[in-house]
Amino acid sequence: MAGLEINMQPLRGSKVCGHLMPMPRYSPSFVKAITASQARDVPDLSVTVNGLRLPNPFVIGSGPPGTNYTVMKRAFDEGWGAVIAKTVSLDSSKVINVTPRYARLHASSGKPKEVIGWENIELISDRPFKTMLDEMRQLKQEYPDRILIASIMEEYNKDAWEEIIERVEETGVDALEINFSCPHGMPERKMGAAVGQDCDLLEEVCGWINAKATVPVWAKMTPNITDITKPARIALQKGCEGVSAINTITSVMGINLDTLRPEPCVEGYSTPGGYSSKAVRPIALAKVMAIGKMIKEEFNGQDVSLSAIGGVETGNHAAEFILLGANTVQVCTGVMLHGYGLAKTLCTELQAFMERHNFKSVEEFRGLSLEYFTTHTDLVRRQREAIEKRKAVRVGLSSDKEWTGDAFVKQTETMVSN
Ligand SMILES: Cc1cc2nc3c(=O)[nH]c(=O)nc-3n(C[C@H](O)[C@H](O)[C@H](O)COP(=O)(O)O)c2cc1C
Repeated sequence: MAGLEINMQPLRGSKVCGHLMPMPRYSPSFVKAITASQARDVPDLSVTVNGLRLPNPFVIGSGPPGTNYTVMKRAFDEGWGAVIAKTVSLDSSKVINVTPRYARLHASSGKPKEVIGWENIELISDRPFKTMLDEMRQLKQEYPDRILIASIMEEYNKDAWEEIIERVEETGVDALEINFSCPHGMPERKMGAAVGQDCDLLEEVCGWINAKATVPVWAKMTPNITDITKPARIALQKGCEGVSAINTITSVMGINLDTLRPEPCVEGYSTPGGYSSKAVRPIALAKVMAIGKMIKEEFNGQDVSLSAIGGVETGNHAAEFILLGANTVQVCTGVMLHGYGLAKTLCTELQAFMERHNFKSVEEFRGLSLEYFTTHTDLVRRQREAIEKRKAVRVGLSSDKEWTGDAFVKQTETMVSN
C-alpha cells in the first residue's frame, strides 16, 4: 500500500492517575520500515496515539465495517491503521434490530446518483457478547501488531461497566472507545447519548470506567448537544486518554410523498435515526475544531488525543480534520459505500497533500489551522484594520443597502471565499 507499512508492537502499560504510562517496544520490522521511509524521503503516515503506534491515521469507525471477525480481518489486510469494533454490551438479547434500517440522501444531479447523506436506525451489536469477545481475541492472536479497539456501552450501573471492561480487556484489545453517543434506541435505556448529553451522568460514569480500565479510553461524543466541548472536557478531566467526535446527528431522512410514510419505513412507521456520510462533514469539522481548540488551550502538553469522524471519503478530508487537531481519522459510512480498499486511496491522497506542503510527518501539520478560527467581532476588526492599512477597496458590498435585485447572484458571488 502507499502508506507506510509498519509491523508494530502495541505499547501496553498501567494507568497512573488516569493516564497511560507508555513502555516503548519496537519490533525489528518497525525500525526497518522507518529507516526505509527515511531513505526514500516519503512523508511518514505513522502516528503514535496514547502510546499506541498506528501505521497510518485511518481507523475503521464503529459500525457495520467492524461487526465481525471476517470484516475486521479484511480491514487489517487492506491496511487500515486501526479497527474499532461495532459497539457491544453485556446482554445482546435486549438489542433487536429492524430492517430496513438505512435510508439514503442522493445529490440531485449526477450519474450514478451520488450518496451524500445516510440515515441509520441500527442499534449496537445484536451478536452474543461472548461471540464478539472470542472474535476480538482471535484477531489479536492473529494480528498481535495491529491496533484493535473495542467499543462498549452499558446501562447506568457501576458493576455492569466494571464487568464489561474486565471481560473486553481480557481479549487483548489495545484500547476502549466508550459509546456515549448512540442517538436512537439506547437512550431509552439510559445508555449512549443519554449519558453523553448529561454532564453529571458522564462525569460519574467516566470515573467508574477510568478507575477500572488499564488500556487507553476514548470517549465518543454525540453532536446532538449545544456545546460539545463541555462533555469532552469532563471526559478528559475524569481520566479518558482521548475523545472521538462525532457520532451521528439526529435526523429524519424524509417522507415518501406517495405513501405519506417516513423513511426508513418499517411496517409503515419510522423513528428518528442518526445521520452520517458526506453531508455531515461540515458539522463534524465544526465540532472537531471546537474540541481541538479546547484541548490546545486546556490540555496542552498532556498526552490526550482526538479522533475525528464524520463524512470522510478522501485523504484531503482527513487532512482537514488533522489540521484541526485530530490525531486519527475514522471512517464508517465511507467504507459501506466504497469498500475496505478505500484505505489505500486515503493513504495515497494524504501523502500527496503532505508532499505538496513538504510535511514529513502527520504531527508536523496537526492542528495548524486552529489558530485561524476567531470570533466574528475579531473578523470585523481585522477587516477594518486591513482596509485602513492598505487603503484597498473592500471585496463585496460595503453595506446591505447596496444589494440589488438584478445583480443579486453576482453580488452574492463576490462575498464567497472558495
Ligand atoms: C449503520 C451505522 C451503524 C453505526 N453503529 C455505530 C455503533 O455501533 N457504535 C458507534 O459508536 N457508532 C456507530 N455508528 C456511527 C459511526 O461510527 C460514525 O460516528 C458516524 O457514522 C459518522 O461517521 P461517517 O460519516 O464516517 O459514517 C454507526 C454508523 C452507521 C452509519
